[in-house]
Amino acid sequence: MTAPGAPLRRVAIRGTGMYVPPRVVTNQDLEALMDTSDEWIRQRSGIRERRHAEPGVGTADLGLQASLRALEAAGLEPGDLDLIVVATLTPDYYFPGTSALLQDLLGLSGSTTPAFDVRCQCSGFLYALNVGQLFVASGQYDRVLVCGAEKHSPCLDMTSRGRDVSVLFGDGAAAVILEPSDDPERGILDIRLHVQGEHAKRLWVEIPSTLQKAYVSKELVEEGRMYTHMEGRFVFKQAVIRMPEVVHEILDPRGLPVEAVDLFLFHQANLRINEQVAKHLGVPEDRMYNNIETYGNCSAASVPMCLDECVRGGRVKPGDLICMATFGSGFSWAGALVRW
Ligand code: ACO
Repeated sequence: MTAPGAPLRRVAIRGTGMYVPPRVVTNQDLEALMDTSDEWIRQRSGIRERRHAEPGVGTADLGLQASLRALEAAGLEPGDLDLIVVATLTPDYYFPGTSALLQDLLGLSGSTTPAFDVRCQCSGFLYALNVGQLFVASGQYDRVLVCGAEKHSPCLDMTSRGRDVSVLFGDGAAAVILEPSDDPERGILDIRLHVQGEHAKRLWVEIPSTLQKAYVSKELVEEGRMYTHMEGRFVFKQAVIRMPEVVHEILDPRGLPVEAVDLFLFHQANLRINEQVAKHLGVPEDRMYNNIETYGNCSAASVPMCLDECVRGGRVKPGDLICMATFGSGFSWAGALVRW
């Protein structure tokens, strides 16, 4: 730990890991459940398949596998962690947080390692990354696990009523380990966060709700009000404005042109959104990485899943500049710049 008042430390991502459950759900599988088609889904979203975890496997279980891989990549044991931050919009339970369950699964209950959840939906990973970064930068902690994990599948209306949302989402998790950087030029250079709460109900889940007489009731469930409601076109339009905006907010003050960035990782909500974001920014296809085709939208796990695939696939080299941007419910959006 650093003394209070000491200058902020640069923070680096030391290890990454991801996990998806083995069951593949193709667009053809969905055709058998609801009035949809492979052609509609591919054309509108770019998604071909996604993963669904089995009953009995929770969000924390997915997070555990991703976290163990990130720890291994960083050469660390669970006991080395000072703090656990989990971003999710599909927690195992309404409370306690998935982070507490993950702490126990990691075998850390005896050590009372602090753990908490960040609820910022599809922007959750970058919010959690910023929180973890600041704990390390301040010197309060040296090793922080930041995990994005989602088990969307039990929260999806797998009938024609829910087809506009259900075809888009998948289950998955990814994690990173944060440590102080020994090179002041490398690590997390910037993170910018935004929310516009006036649009909260354009992409939301209404129950369980403290506004209701009963937090959850048979009637509300029968009305399907525990499923995601989304104004898809409005979300789409806002996403293609806000993601380029936050990228410029990060790059412009540093005098960095878009061409200076080696790799862009955008939230995986819809391939068409990312194609338009890339077009607005002038990002060539080979500087952007997407995995939505095979995993769908894994919300808080999407961006770190892309990062892990790029790191393990050799797509990221030391010294590379990585720019990440997210957009989701809240509305929330965020951007980050990392020198690898
Ligand atoms: N299969 C077949 N037809 C469908 C499906 C489906 N799965 N879903 C909707 N349709 C139908 C609609 O009923 C509509 O039919 P109609 O013309 O007879 O009324 C038609 O297809 C067109 O529907 P639109 O909603 O207008 O389609 P659109 O072109 O807008 O695409 C989409 C829909 C893909 C959802 C798009 O709006 C989108 O990607 N929006 C953003 C999604 C997003 O970013 N979500 C973020 C979630 S992140 C988070 O934080 C949770």
